Amino acid sequence: MTLAPTPQSTADDWTEHVFSAALGAIDILAIHLGDRLGWYRALVDAGPLTAEQLAERTDTHPRYAREWLEQQTTSGYLEASEGDPMTFSLPPGAAEALTDERSLAYISPLARMLVGAATQMPALLDAYRTGRGVSWDQIGDDARWSQADMNRPWFEQMLAEAIAGVAEVHDVLSRPGARIADVACGAGWSSIALADAYPQANIVGIDIDQPSIEAARTNAAEADVGHRVSFLTGDAAELDGVFIFEALHDMPRPVEVLQAIKAAVKPDGVCVVMDEGVGDSVTVGDDVERLMYGFSLFVCLPDGMSSQPSAGTGTVMRPSTLAHYAKDAGFSDTSVLPIEDFSFFRFYRLHL
Ligand SMILES: C[S@@+](CC[C@H](N)C(=O)[O-])C[C@H]1O[C@@H](n2cnc3c(N)ncnc32)[C@H](O)[C@@H]1O
Repeated sequence: MTLAPTPQSTADDWTEHVFSAALGAIDILAIHLGDRLGWYRALVDAGPLTAEQLAERTDTHPRYAREWLEQQTTSGYLEASEGDPMTFSLPPGAAEALTDERSLAYISPLARMLVGAATQMPALLDAYRTGRGVSWDQIGDDARWSQADMNRPWFEQMLAEAIAGVAEVHDVLSRPGARIADVACGAGWSSIALADAYPQANIVGIDIDQPSIEAARTNAAEADVGHRVSFLTGDAAELDGVFIFEALHDMPRPVEVLQAIKAAVKPDGVCVVMDEGVGDSVTVGDDVERLMYGFSLFVCLPDGMSSQPSAGTGTVMRPSTLAHYAKDAGFSDTSVLPIEDFSFFRFYRLHL
């Protein structure tokens, strides 16, 4: 946890605090350059490289490549050799965190989300003044694909094991021909993971965002589960199980969605919501909450507000908020499932 200033902090403390935040912001912007321009990837594939070599491999300009390489070295991301010209390489740990899309440590999509949101600043300022919003669709591909890339390794590597450890959910998914909905499935990685783990189940992924659904169909076909996963189609009634992965807090009308889900799930089915593992109240200095409020300021709250009327939940959906939504939708109770250490998430079961 990085310490936030306290009411006793001096002006110098505050200056230092904001100065380190600015350095962090510079890191994020520079990571975005390295990620989007293919510079990290080229360093992994062919490093060490000079600026000229990097530029040539990535079809970018050598003067900019040199500046970025030096900045990354200054900030500790790259290692540089002595010599003229200097060569630069990406150490193994940084290479995994910044380029390995299958690794749980993969973090560069976070930069893409923040930069994507920041490019909407004029629209965000307007939203903050008027109460209108900035939709997921308007934030566009940076948010869409960064979200998918961030959660993908967790779904691919951890979801099956996490659910297998919770008998009340696992048993329902194991029913022959179980009909499971993944509501707000995004690019479909969670639907694909469920299909992989439960070969007898039929999964329906539903999302309001058409480009995500198109990507989900391609991803499912490539994963060879296209015959058991359909997207945006299918009868959503009489379901055995419904999942909402990191999306309830984005929905303008969460209670209506939960009501529809409750009506569609069989009495002996399960409804599971995975959402941010935030605490019960505002916690000063907690890094997870700081990150979640960051998403909320720039992405989730403006997206949720972009369709009115809106509950205006924001990313920091506290356990008590979810419990209220579930109760208002007619669920009898909400409990937390025993799934720990699954990224920043908590798994809730909504009881029929
Ligand atoms: C933060 S993303 C999560 C996507 C995916 N579940 C994942 O974990 O990667 C939120 C998703 O909710 C979808 N969404 C928001 N409101 C929705 C609604 N009312 N019905 C269906 N999808 C919705 C968005 O289009 C977006 O794909």
